[in-house]
Amino acid sequence: MDQNSSTATALGMDIRPMTGYTGAEIFGVDLTAPLEPAVVAEIRAALLQWKVVFFRDQFIDRDQHLAFARLFGETMPGHPTLPPSFPDYPEILLLDNKQGTGNIKEEKSAGGPRIESRWHTDVKFVQAPPMASILRAIVVPPYGGDTQWANLAMAYKFLSPEVQQFIDGLHAVNHNALPIDRGELPGALAKAFMSKPMRAVHPVVRVHPETGEKVIFVEPNFTSHIVELSRRESNHILAMLCEHIQRQEFTVRFRWEPGSIAFWDNRATAHIVPTDIPPGMHRCHERVTLAGDIPVDSAGNESYVLESD
Ligand code: SIN
Repeated sequence: MDQNSSTATALGMDIRPMTGYTGAEIFGVDLTAPLEPAVVAEIRAALLQWKVVFFRDQFIDRDQHLAFARLFGETMPGHPTLPPSFPDYPEILLLDNKQGTGNIKEEKSAGGPRIESRWHTDVKFVQAPPMASILRAIVVPPYGGDTQWANLAMAYKFLSPEVQQFIDGLHAVNHNALPIDRGELPGALAKAFMSKPMRAVHPVVRVHPETGEKVIFVEPNFTSHIVELSRRESNHILAMLCEHIQRQEFTVRFRWEPGSIAFWDNRATAHIVPTDIPPGMHRCHERVTLAGDIPVDSAGNESYVLESD
């Protein structure tokens, strides 16, 4: 058995898996320089295999961030309900615990651990959620503020066949009505986030359009209920699935440094925003999302919209 922890590729990249199933760091690539199509193809292959890939010491600017993203797909507006963060860069979403999220000037981390951050898949409440997100670290606290991702394809694979069969034909409503009556998000941000009610029905198990893998496509933030079940049944099944996707076996935790970049397959992952940023410390990231296709279940049924702007 080869016990090497990394894979040196023919193109000089070094792909180092971080856990048994999820996440790999990619070294030997310079994102400030134009990338050859073969390099892009290798990064894409690593993304499809590990679901989230990380780069270190990539001090790129906004134009380079967008140019890198466009090598993999079409960039989208920063967020469907939040105002643009930057007039000149409508596709970049600012996530800054001092300046706010989007253009909402509110200190998101002010509540610290009292804010219950939830695992989620980005912009899950539209008919075609993003294919991927690319998050660039600009300012990071010296400790705290790590992000975690879960591999939802692996989570499906490790369900028992009977549960897989049961959930395969189910569909769930996903909405942007955040569970905020508990005061977990500051007011202005939550208000802007929910300013336009948006709801879409997605398969509980989607088929990944590139790998063909089955993926659990529910999470505790945006998934409201399973349409084929009673609310009581739905609550229990969702609680079981949401607990299952968070198991440490399917997750990876990333320690940010300035110049770090995380690139995740939003069709096959959920992630959780940290709330352990030490009081008074600054954390600032910028995110670009890539357009995705309409999810399908294993019978080929497409997701559909219930409510949109
Ligand atoms: C996100 O949800 O896209 C941001 C994750 C983070 O700030 O760690």
